[in-house]
Amino acid sequence: MAKILPIIKNPSPLLREKSKEIDFEKIKPNELKDLCADMIKTMKEKDGVGLAAPQVGKSIRLITINTKDGPKIMINPKITNKSWAKEWNEEGCLSVPGVYGKVRRNKKINCVYFDKNGQKIKIQAQGLLSFVIQHETDHLDGILFIDKAKEVKKIKAI
Ligand code: CO
Repeated sequence: MAKILPIIKNPSPLLREKSKEIDFEKIKPNELKDLCADMIKTMKEKDGVGLAAPQVGKSIRLITINTKDGPKIMINPKITNKSWAKEWNEEGCLSVPGVYGKVRRNKKINCVYFDKNGQKIKIQAQGLLSFVIQHETDHLDGILFIDKAKEVKKIKAI
């Protein structure tokens, strides 16, 4: 059964590390499968649009994204191309609770990643999906949205 994992909150040095690539030859398939299931459950339970492994204390390049077509798992995601056009969009983060701010990100990106079976996938993303992939891959490099945000608002935790 998938479990809800505790979320690492800012400020924690764990959120500032550069995560390591996942080596499919070395990682235990069950370990990866369980972590993916736990991250998806945690993301849904906490109402997140995305979650990156460092947010649950794993310094590896794995992100999950909630899309309208269901949860997406992206392993070793790499943004290979970014549109010239950018857009400001309001963001928040489960690791920075109660804080929101506007971040300027590329409207369209090309992204290469591996699914949980090790299959290589190339996608073009735009709009919200593009912003979420950029936010989550930033986590893998130790970057938080508050590093880039303007008009940062703090809302009291409920
Ligand atoms: Co985040």
